[in-house]
Amino acid sequence: MFPSLLAAALTLAGAIGAKASPVASAETQSIPYTSPFIYYHGRWDAAPATWWASSGFKLHVANLKSLTLALGPNTTSPLASLGVSVDYQPFVTVNVSEGVNEINVNGANPSSSVVRFNVEEWQDNRVNLERIELNTDATLLPYVPQPLVFQFIGDSLSAGQFLPMGVDQAWNFMTAETFKAEHRINAQPGATLTDMESYGNVHGVSFQYFRTEDTGYYNTPQHNYTTPWDFLRDQPPPTHFVIHIGANDASWDVPEANFTQTYLAFVERIRTMYPIEPIFVFTPWGWPQPDGPNTYYYPNAYTDVVAARHALGDQQIFLVNTTGWVDYSDVYPANIHPDVEGHQKIAGLFETWLEGWGLQRLPEWLTT
Ligand SMILES: *[C@@H]1O[C@H](CO)[C@@H](O)[C@H](O)[C@H]1NC(C)=O
Ligand SMILES: *[C@@H]1O[C@H](CO)[C@@H](O)[C@H](O)[C@H]1NC(C)=O
Ligand SMILES: *[C@@H]1O[C@H](CO)[C@@H](O)[C@H](O)[C@H]1NC(C)=O
Ligand SMILES: *[C@@H]1O[C@H](CO)[C@@H](O)[C@H](O)[C@H]1NC(C)=O
Ligand SMILES: *[C@@H]1O[C@H](CO)[C@@H](O)[C@H](O)[C@H]1NC(C)=O
Repeated sequence: MFPSLLAAALTLAGAIGAKASPVASAETQSIPYTSPFIYYHGRWDAAPATWWASSGFKLHVANLKSLTLALGPNTTSPLASLGVSVDYQPFVTVNVSEGVNEINVNGANPSSSVVRFNVEEWQDNRVNLERIELNTDATLLPYVPQPLVFQFIGDSLSAGQFLPMGVDQAWNFMTAETFKAEHRINAQPGATLTDMESYGNVHGVSFQYFRTEDTGYYNTPQHNYTTPWDFLRDQPPPTHFVIHIGANDASWDVPEANFTQTYLAFVERIRTMYPIEPIFVFTPWGWPQPDGPNTYYYPNAYTDVVAARHALGDQQIFLVNTTGWVDYSDVYPANIHPDVEGHQKIAGLFETWLEGWGLQRLPEWLTT
């Protein structure tokens, strides 16, 4: 690289918030992406690179002083936004790019530290991990996942669309944090549950949930294809499912009976893999209006789905009635999606609901 280009690259990297250095320091040890000590969560392809907001990895390190991520060419250009949390402190955004990205780990517990990473956005969310550089006297340790594992499935209302920190500020992400749970989120803004084209999504969630890639694959020239997801990679497996979907089906006037059929078929398919795990079915909180009540959709579908499953002998499916959870003061007027405080409110209401149902918060993180 010519010095002028190098300087330009460094300036650019500085401007987007990641400190890039051209070569890794000799005083580091290199951890390849294949290390069994990296605890991956969410959906990663063969590169390996992330898809779906919230996918990421966790590290447990003794004597951590420096940490850099070396990212490959499948990383979103010019950057992808990562949520980074050191020792369970609040997540902060670090924009990363192809190349070497330094992560600030100042204040990490010297004896043993946990660093968590996840992609924040529902688009521009590809992080291609090649290796991790740590100070030479650091020791990578196993990360022991929490025994409570949420699987959230939804659309923009669960993906953190429009939030400054994306999914890291969404109700579902926060609820999982409050319960000290692992979580996986498969939520695609604009998507229907019905497998049809909708607002830029070439497929609906009833198809895409079973794939590695989110529907953004279709706009990704070097990866314009989708592959089946191997659910055995979800370790530990989900213990609780939360599904909040239907807003986009309703906006395309998919008839309620069709939506209900699609929902039942989707639950049936989940049940082939997860026969007894509780499934929480959200009713819509509706679209708040400046004057007058929220607009609702599918008044009967959600109760019908739950009742039909009960009639089949499946008692582990529960309706979460979110009527009244969100009003006009909780949303961005421009798009009527919950704002940061709105998501905090929803998280609090769902946490109370879950505790009323009988789910207890885990008292501690197992890996510290
Ligand atoms: C990350 O990049 C986004 C998009 O360019 C920008 O809006 C945001 O301010 C950046 N955040 C940080 C912490 O650098
Ligand atoms: C990663 O990017 C390279 C270069 O664009 C491409 O050839 C390769 O197929 C990509 N790999 C995956 C798994 O998408
Ligand atoms: C992806 O492939 C489809 C055809 O299968 C094509 O219509 C679309 O333009 C492609 N997208 C990109 C970004 O290459
Ligand atoms: C709804 O379901 C009916 C009966 O299966 C079918 O004929 C119709 O095409 C479906 N409509 C839509 C919009 O999917
Ligand atoms: C949901 O809650 C609202 C408000 O409390 C109530 O009017 C409605 O009947 C409830 N729906 C169901 C299916 O329980």
